[in-house]
Amino acid sequence: MTIILGVSASVALYKACDIVRELTKAGHTVRVAMTRTAAAWINPVLFEALSAQKVITDDTASGMAHIEIRGGADLMLVAPATADLIARAAQGRADDIVTATLLAYDGPRYIAPAMNPFMYAHPATQANLKTLKSYGYHILDSANGEAVCGDVGQGKMMAVADIIAALSSRR
Ligand SMILES: Cc1cc2nc3c(=O)[nH]c(=O)nc-3n(C[C@H](O)[C@H](O)[C@H](O)COP(=O)(O)O)c2cc1C
Repeated sequence: MTIILGVSASVALYKACDIVRELTKAGHTVRVAMTRTAAAWINPVLFEALSAQKVITDDTASGMAHIEIRGGADLMLVAPATADLIARAAQGRADDIVTATLLAYDGPRYIAPAMNPFMYAHPATQANLKTLKSYGYHILDSANGEAVCGDVGQGKMMAVADIIAALSSRR
């Protein structure tokens, strides 16, 4: 498959490297798009090395990058998806390369929320996830456990192996 991977600035961002590695090892082509903040946290060159594909960021995107990246893609995954990105996507905003691509792509879209348990449980976040579900997005439910900050509850990004399994079975 050809997979568009959107990454945003959650503390779980480092796990996106594993997602790219596992998907490419399994023979998939992964095209990575990074929000500006994500690209400030992890240099896009690392994703380029792992995917052997050019990475698109807000600073490197050409005018039509959000249209070009979707060509021939079988699905789009956003992992990790921040509360803010989920809110922007639920509003139909397109003010960064990841949300612009989500809006321009009409294939299957998967969202893996990754945040503090209180951010995840907040009615605003839950309402935004419900809105995305109503648009047909697949929400890869966050896991339970201890967040990096020490808070405990649901909010962590789904385990990488479970994300890969969900995409493979196209659940
Ligand atoms: C160290 C640090 C860790 C953060 N971790 C998260 C997180 O796990 N989930 C989240 O939703 N926001 C997190 N944030 C807040 C987002 O980075 C912030 O909302 C940012 O604007 C999101 O940008 P993006 O969605 O365009 O990538 C964190 C911020 C900092 C400074």
